[in-house]
Amino acid sequence: MVGIIDIKEIFSRVFQIKFEDGRIAIATETLVPGLKVYDEKIVQHDDREYRIWNPYRSKLAAAILNGIKELPIKPGSRVLYLGIASGTTASHISDIIGENGIIYGIEFAHRPFRDLIKVAENRKNIVPLLKDARLPESFSYIGENVDILYADLAQPNQAQIFLHNAEIFLKENGYGIIAIKARSIDVTKPPDEIFKEQREILEAGGMRILEGIKLDPYAKDHIMFLLRYQY
Ligand SMILES: C[S@@+](CC[C@H](N)C(=O)[O-])C[C@H]1O[C@@H](n2cnc3c(N)ncnc32)[C@H](O)[C@@H]1O
Repeated sequence: MVGIIDIKEIFSRVFQIKFEDGRIAIATETLVPGLKVYDEKIVQHDDREYRIWNPYRSKLAAAILNGIKELPIKPGSRVLYLGIASGTTASHISDIIGENGIIYGIEFAHRPFRDLIKVAENRKNIVPLLKDARLPESFSYIGENVDILYADLAQPNQAQIFLHNAEIFLKENGYGIIAIKARSIDVTKPPDEIFKEQREILEAGGMRILEGIKLDPYAKDHIMFLLRYQY
């Protein structure tokens, strides 16, 4: 196994690892030692266990590697996640927020949801909800306003769904993170035109755009917006 030269915390509980062969990766320190969630690599250092965060499997990892300047997800954060799927990205968020944080994970497809349930059995800070993100009233029993609204639905009207959920669940000055795939919206238009339109929809809905980070080469023709919500 290739040795580690250096581990540096680049955001709260997100680490950059330099290996002896020159490779650089990002990782989170696992909340559940010994357990993998997807096919991520696990490395040990100084009695700690880290899960390498794969940017080809997680758009949030791609945004971090592409230089996002701020990551509002912190220990204790409360997160509503639309389109959590089987929990690949959410498992790293779960590592970051720790035992005092919570992720309400909305997913409407049964197959990824079954895998998500297994992940949540070992990670008590993930609450899986088999729900349709277009109908936030159907999970209003969450009963709290969250610090972060995260969306990765790959749907044409995702920005509208995101704003509808923000109105109900996002704190004033809370943060939004939304991954947008140009081809899910319109295959005929250039991606930059789509990103501009989506930006305008989000701004008109009360979101201030803090950053827009393209996710190439990890996810082609995708952008991730980091947003702040002003009522
Ligand atoms: C690109 S995948 C999400 C990957 C995941 N965010 C990750 O990084 O690990 C999009 C997911 O959104 C789900 N989805 C799409 N529309 C939805 C809706 N209206 N309500 C709930 N889930 C939805 C899909 O079933 C799919 O699992």
